[in-house]
Amino acid sequence: MCGIVGYVGHRPALDVVLGGLRRMEYRGYDSAGVAVLDGAGALTVERKAGRLANLEGRLDEVGREHFGGTAGMGHTRWATHGAPIDRNSHPHRDASERVAVVHNGIIENFAALRAELEADGVEMASDTDTETAAHLVARAYTEGDTKGDFTASVAAVCRRLEGAFTLVVTHADHPDTIVAARRSSPLVVGVGEGEHFVASDVAAFIEHTREAVELGQDQLVVITREGYDVLDFHGDAAQAKPFTVDWDLSAAEKGGHEYFMLKEIEEQPEALANTLRGHFESGRIILDEQRISDQDLRDVDKVFVVACGSAYHSGLVAKYAIEHWTRLPVEVELASEFRYRDPVLDRDTLVVAVSQSGETADTLEAVRHAREQKARVLAVCNTNGAQIPRESDAVLYTHAGPEIGVASTKAFLAQIAANYLVGLALAQARGTKYPDEVAREYAELEAMPAAVQKVLSTVEQVRDLGRRIADSKAILFLGRHVGFPVALEGALKLKELAYMHAEGFAAGELKHGPIALIEDGLPVVVVMPSPKGRAVLHSKLVSNISEIQARGARTIVIAEEGDETVRPFADELIEVPAVPTLLQPLVSTVPLQVLAAEIARARGYDVDKPRNLAKSVTVE
Ligand code: G6P
Repeated sequence: MCGIVGYVGHRPALDVVLGGLRRMEYRGYDSAGVAVLDGAGALTVERKAGRLANLEGRLDEVGREHFGGTAGMGHTRWATHGAPIDRNSHPHRDASERVAVVHNGIIENFAALRAELEADGVEMASDTDTETAAHLVARAYTEGDTKGDFTASVAAVCRRLEGAFTLVVTHADHPDTIVAARRSSPLVVGVGEGEHFVASDVAAFIEHTREAVELGQDQLVVITREGYDVLDFHGDAAQAKPFTVDWDLSAAEKGGHEYFMLKEIEEQPEALANTLRGHFESGRIILDEQRISDQDLRDVDKVFVVACGSAYHSGLVAKYAIEHWTRLPVEVELASEFRYRDPVLDRDTLVVAVSQSGETADTLEAVRHAREQKARVLAVCNTNGAQIPRESDAVLYTHAGPEIGVASTKAFLAQIAANYLVGLALAQARGTKYPDEVAREYAELEAMPAAVQKVLSTVEQVRDLGRRIADSKAILFLGRHVGFPVALEGALKLKELAYMHAEGFAAGELKHGPIALIEDGLPVVVVMPSPKGRAVLHSKLVSNISEIQARGARTIVIAEEGDETVRPFADELIEVPAVPTLLQPLVSTVPLQVLAAEIARARGYDVDKPRNLAKSVTVE
């Protein structure tokens, strides 16, 4: 989820590019870099690991006067391939240093491309997938049909790339031109007077122009001072959609949303798709960095999931799937409890450590304890190169992109998807699922971004409900089976954001205590299973709802579309699309996130920075 900006115009490019990067820094804090073209054919690049401020410090050291020119580009990185260090920072150049490239996304066939380039004698200067594109463009420009044609060279390279990418390319021979391309990754053009921009997000250029053009899938744009041309990857003219941005500058940084969290809720389909991408190839589940052999996975006789907060809830969800698919016992444990309890671990135990930040002290200590006991540790992490993956035997990255809101949303959904991939990898290694069954489960996961997108189209109803119940004293959440951890997550979101008393319960436990809390008008959110998936659970939950309704509760029911049996028991009904039983948390969590955020807004609280909480908790 990197941030990209490119500029050709009449102003000093360095200022425009740095201004754009400042507003897109939220997209990645791992490194920043710029390239500026001067009219005399020089291409000057500077890049630095860490925050944008580090790059600005470096530019002051080398002297900003070396970056004269009115065309240039910049990048802020959220690392995917290669550690967040200077040498992996963008822009990347070819060996002649005439071509520079910045990139957002993942080039899935980069290993093959890299091998091909290395066989040709190219020496790679970084560990990134991006660098391959720089060498390929340089090669296309110097040989074959595309020789001397910058745009055709970029198009030819795009045709060879697999995966998701936004690429912005400069060539020292063409100091007044920038070529940019996109596939499954964002790219917008800014249209000014005598100047044009390309960026990941309109926030990058909104202070200069509000006239923008949204590029379509597999399109390429050539910008100059005078204009822009949109082409497809075969070089034929293509249509793109012009629009006028109606946000102000401060809203634009959050993609038009009042809070980052609302933006992150909307990014969930993309976060899920990115997390799944590239993990099923030639009929097999593939994890990221698997330093645990297939034989070791076959020998696993017990799984622990250790994590904190929302990540812990993602583990509770995964338990249902991993046990069902692998027939292995799965224990899910709060990381802060795990190591003080002397859990029974040995070299056949797989410990899955789930953490968005990869820095959470409790989870890190649990990882260390597990490794001391000779257990194998697999990290599920959203932050490339963080401490937890570094200290684990293997890592599976969730590619949710940077999450700014303190309360986890898109990272939580991505964790569920990643945990499921771990379950499928275990089932595959142990042979508890046939290859076609693994393929089917993966295909069902792949359909989830569209299902979540559908849920997002109904959030207005949930917002309205949130405003109506914002002054409640407390809210309870009930669920069964995978709906139980969803209830826990819904309650956690409400506590974190709205500072409201909230509890999640297993609906079957209601009669063993919590039902005493029910009083007239108390909102109770019930997460219903599908009537088709687990009919027995569905009918038991219908009974539970009628028990609380009889005692005066205001029932808010999250149910599958078309579930008519539950309608009479629902004071408020929120419908979500029908999905397979084990995947239901991916759709039913979304309304609960929106509900908590809206209640917090209505109560006047800062949704992104709730009191007393921190995004990354590095103390035990
Ligand atoms: C904090 C955050 C939560 C998060 C938890 C675990 O408490 O506020 O949103 O779930 O830490 O963080 P991790 O980075 O390990 O997933």
